[in-house]
Amino acid sequence: MKLGRLNHVGVATPSIENSIAHYRDTMGAEVVTAPFDLPAQGVKVCFVDTPNSQIELIEPLGADSPIVKFLEKNPLGGQHHLCFEVTDIEEARAYFEGKGKRILGPTRIGAHGTPIFFLHPKDMEGVLTEIMESPKQAH
Ligand code: CO
Repeated sequence: MKLGRLNHVGVATPSIENSIAHYRDTMGAEVVTAPFDLPAQGVKVCFVDTPNSQIELIEPLGADSPIVKFLEKNPLGGQHHLCFEVTDIEEARAYFEGKGKRILGPTRIGAHGTPIFFLHPKDMEGVLTEIMESPKQAH
């Protein structure tokens, strides 16, 4: 497996609107996408562009959202996951399975419209890790 580009840093927030205001007004972000619901992952999401990557802001979508527990432990929100690109998602999944890494749920379509899966933080040096297939037309 070849490690690809850091696509985004996932940041959980209790209020996506407040976080957008923070990145725009305090951090000077110029491009922030409109928030949209991602029911497959139980989150409302938007992206803050930086010159070399993106911040993915995620707010719980409903009480059974997978990030509800994270926000109970971290009421202000905070860094939630890192997302790395790979060229072939199925190959990457088989690779990590072969290494005995726990994969959280099925491969599904992520916020960029390409397949993703998550790896258990306890098998990944404490970092919840998202693996995402690179968009075909971009880069
Ligand atoms: Co993500």
